[in-house]
Amino acid sequence: MSVLSRVKVDRFRNLEAVDITPSPSFNFFYGANGSGKTSLLEALHCVSVGRSFRTQKIRPLVSEGFPSFTVFLGIDNQMAAGIGLSKSRAGKTELNLLSVPQDNWKDVAERLPVQLINSESFLILDGGAKPRRRLLDWAMFHVEHSSLNLLRRFNRALKQRNSLLKTLHTGSRKKALEALLPWDREFSESGTALNIKRQEIATKLDDILQDYLNRLLPYFSFELIYKPGWDVSTSLLSQLESSIDRDLASGTTNFGPHRGDIVIYAGKSIAKETLSRGQSKMFVCSLKLALGKMVSDRYADYGTQYSPVFLLDDLPSELDNRNQELVLHELANLNVQCFITSVDKPKFTKEKLKRDARMFHVEHGKIAEA
Ligand SMILES: Nc1ncnc2c1ncn2[C@@H]1O[C@H](COP(=O)(O)OP(=O)(O)O)[C@@H](O)[C@H]1O
Ligand SMILES: [Mg+2]
Repeated sequence: MSVLSRVKVDRFRNLEAVDITPSPSFNFFYGANGSGKTSLLEALHCVSVGRSFRTQKIRPLVSEGFPSFTVFLGIDNQMAAGIGLSKSRAGKTELNLLSVPQDNWKDVAERLPVQLINSESFLILDGGAKPRRRLLDWAMFHVEHSSLNLLRRFNRALKQRNSLLKTLHTGSRKKALEALLPWDREFSESGTALNIKRQEIATKLDDILQDYLNRLLPYFSFELIYKPGWDVSTSLLSQLESSIDRDLASGTTNFGPHRGDIVIYAGKSIAKETLSRGQSKMFVCSLKLALGKMVSDRYADYGTQYSPVFLLDDLPSELDNRNQELVLHELANLNVQCFITSVDKPKFTKEKLKRDARMFHVEHGKIAEA
């Protein structure tokens, strides 16, 4: 398994001259509010996907009074082998993978899949469909990298179609249909293929997830129902034809994979209406573990050593000791590298976790092994 063997962070929020050697298994970071724990996870997340989970902007990430931040992640104890990221307030980005400059995030995202569990993760259950679709698409990308092209094709067709719909709604219907036709074809072709892939991923995910749920939330029976975003008894192209008046009136495409979703039931009710906060968190942990398992199994098939890195911000919030232990036990079995934060110093030991574990104290933007 490939792991991060060094983490260096400079001028990222309040973090300054951070240089740590993490364990290949568990890394616990504890410290007072505002000490910089979430910022550390945020820095790792930024390297993985190019953006924070707290803001879309760069400015708030760069330490006040400085022009840019840098993050370097060493891989597998090889001196030069690593991922380097620097972003400046002025908008300049430099990304390196194994000393090779990158002009996009594809290879880095592939090399460093991260799974984040934080207070926002509840949105998977509570919020709109977007975070759920995003999860499926994350898994789809890591299971089959070429699916990124398909997703891009579909998004482009959707964007073009929507902007056309906005300009055409006042003109003649016939003209509108003619102008839309090439994009309708592209939308239907890529959308149909995307839906098939998403459906496959959703089925596979459900399989693995049920296993985790049996262990982490055994008192409920869960059901995941995948919704494609249109009535699939008709083709996507005929769906577009039959909803054209509605699409023209609203200036947007009302049906298709961009409206896809997964509905999650606990027993007979929608999960978010039944589960307590702690149970919801256990559900989210199960889901992320299942995604992690799916992706690490897939990478093992590829013959690569890549494996997801788990970021757990404030593990103890909402979870009692027993549930925290259950989650850690599953992470240990999955054999992934974890960065876990909490306010208080955790009591978990290597002996108890049956894996290597390191403790770090975070204080005023500095991190020291405890
Ligand atoms: N751009 C910045 N420059 C300097 N400090 C910042 C910047 N952005 C946020 N901070 C400060 O960094 C500190 C760390 O925040 P955070 O990582 O969320 O703390 P924790 O998760 O440990 O509670 C906070 O005190 C915050 O005010
Ligand atoms: Mg925090």
